[in-house]
Amino acid sequence: GRSVKRNSPTLYNVGYSTVLFHDGRESTLEQQVWGPLLAHNEMANPSIGYVIDKLNVTDDYAEQFAKVFGKGPSMETLGMALASYERSLVSGNSPFDRWQYGNDKRALTEAEQRGLALFTGKANCSACHTIGSHDALLTDNTFHNTGIGYLEAMGTPDAKRKIQVAPGIFIDVDRDLIAQVSEAKANDLGRYEVTQNPEDRWKYKTPALRNIGLTAPYMHNGSLATLKAVVEFYNRGGIANENLDPLIQPLKLSDQDINDLVSFLTSLTGDNTDELVADAFAAPVSDAD
Ligand code: HEC
Repeated sequence: GRSVKRNSPTLYNVGYSTVLFHDGRESTLEQQVWGPLLAHNEMANPSIGYVIDKLNVTDDYAEQFAKVFGKGPSMETLGMALASYERSLVSGNSPFDRWQYGNDKRALTEAEQRGLALFTGKANCSACHTIGSHDALLTDNTFHNTGIGYLEAMGTPDAKRKIQVAPGIFIDVDRDLIAQVSEAKANDLGRYEVTQNPEDRWKYKTPALRNIGLTAPYMHNGSLATLKAVVEFYNRGGIANENLDPLIQPLKLSDQDINDLVSFLTSLTGDNTDELVADAFAAPVSDAD
């Protein structure tokens, strides 16, 4: 029954990220793990020592840690273990990669090719979602104000809010009802919370866009349910506010342009996500034996 402030970011390719969390308050995966382990509304462990003690009395963990790190679970080795797993969540070889870097001229459909041309041209998405000459992280690993945070803080909230109840399944729930069962909504000022610089209000990290077709809902607050809604948001020029990034401008895209951009975004899905998901479920998760 506890709500969290922000939408969970994807972990695909997180090993390449130099800033972590939507506001970039951590810089290494090893240290980041302690955020969710201890957060009251996430895993709610009471302390670092409590987590380590718990692992130490669990035979299989104590032994495996000793085997791998030469010592048992500790603040450092727990971070290393989780970070190492996260770095294995690499997903590439998407149709886009095969087209852009693999010289496979059949990898993208015509609509996807038009979408790519818009992404790097008229729509200027690649100004922030970077495409390099040898690789594409699809993020500049820095922070921008698109107006999403400003709208959340200053706008009139919709009477209903979309809540995800299972992967890909959303229901519309009355805001009043949510208010009755959850804590008051926390303020969210984005990067400002880390730097205390007024110009950083409502700036958020540019998310990498690989596998974006699989990771709805979108934006730091999950306020946009579909990729089409995201592209339409950019087409309107974001949400006006005093620190809106100058790169966010009305785009004057046609309906076909919008559909082509959405098609392109779905060509960023890697070829191994089924494997990564199956692998994640392969480890037994239970205290039973
Ligand atoms: C000024 C830099 C900038 C430009 C230009 C830009 N984006 Fe973004 N994009 C961002 C930031 C920052 C966010 C995160 C906003 C948030 O979390 O509130 C984002 C979020 C997104 C998301 C949601 C990602 C997720 O995991 O939730 C998608 C999809 C996206 N952008 C696609 C595009 C497309 C398509 C274009 C071009 C039409 C574009 N972006 C142009 C900076 C930019």
